[in-house]
Amino acid sequence: MGLTIVGCGYLGEAVARQLQPRRTLLPLTLTTTVTERHAALRDLADQLLLCDATDPSQLLVALQRNHTAVFCLAPRGNQQVNADGYRQTFIDSFRCLRSLLPDLPHLRQIIYTGSCSVYGDADGDWVDESTAPAAGNGHREVLLESERLLTDMGDSKRRVCILRLAALHGPGRELDDRLKGLAGRERAGDGRSFSNWIHVHDAAGALIAAMDGAWSGVVNVVNDEPIRIRDLVDLSLKRQQLEPVHWSGGPAPASGNGRRIRNDRLKTLGYRLQHPMLNTG
Ligand SMILES: NC(=O)c1ccc[n+]([C@@H]2O[C@H](COP(=O)([O-])OP(=O)(O)OC[C@H]3O[C@@H](n4cnc5c(N)ncnc54)[C@H](OP(=O)(O)O)[C@@H]3O)[C@@H](O)[C@H]2O)c1
Repeated sequence: MGLTIVGCGYLGEAVARQLQPRRTLLPLTLTTTVTERHAALRDLADQLLLCDATDPSQLLVALQRNHTAVFCLAPRGNQQVNADGYRQTFIDSFRCLRSLLPDLPHLRQIIYTGSCSVYGDADGDWVDESTAPAAGNGHREVLLESERLLTDMGDSKRRVCILRLAALHGPGRELDDRLKGLAGRERAGDGRSFSNWIHVHDAAGALIAAMDGAWSGVVNVVNDEPIRIRDLVDLSLKRQQLEPVHWSGGPAPASGNGRRIRNDRLKTLGYRLQHPMLNTG
């Protein structure tokens, strides 16, 4: 009995890599929807399957031998997908999972990597797991419906853990690389909005802790340092010795003042962050 990771992109692969030393005791089933990913994933897996999570027969094969199912899936590709694309990826997959539960008697835990974006804008205030998510529309509604669908799958024999992740950064998604294109540009608003981040190694580490500790319910997975966008950008550009951004001032853009996300529950459950702060010094 082992673990299946459905969706081995940036985070799913990082989880698989962290679990390599444990493979003799914890066999890994990894999934991808595209054969091009086989080369990268083959050596990390005891079983590597082509699986679209919206396909019941493929998902059943991926899950049927294991006690833990991790869902790290997200719409493929770099471009932003619309809410329908989101719905297809998340809701169709979780409805498919729900339909299979009677055939998955061994499944003891479902872990889903959701998103802190369910909190919406809190005008810069602090939020935690007890804060009601913002009313949903579009993408947020899909994320909330995903959480509801999964939560309803929990019972006395099957735990469901929803990890609400902040934005991921880390190798391959370095903040400096992502921000350097802003050098010398003018940006709307004043950059006051808070952003929240988590290093991919911590996101993967928290997920593994959720499995080891049999966590259930909602847990925010964020670092200790909510940071205003303007501070993040300014510090990064300064470090790279690039021109600063010129904030146009005036009303904040659609994102408002953002929110600062607490990680107290993550710590109370025993997870110790490897990267509690962004490297903005
Ligand atoms: N990235 C962030 O900053 C961020 C922030 C908050 C929350 N999250 C959450 O963290 C999770 C992982 O994010 P990520 O950045 O690692 O995403 P990612 O790199 O885009 O990887 C997601 C993978 O999911 C797989 N996938 C897509 N549709 C699928 C389907 N129908 N069935 C099975 N697999 C499917 C794809 O793998 P193949 O191409 O190999 O099929 C895709 O590469 C997501 O659930 C996301 O909501 C991410």
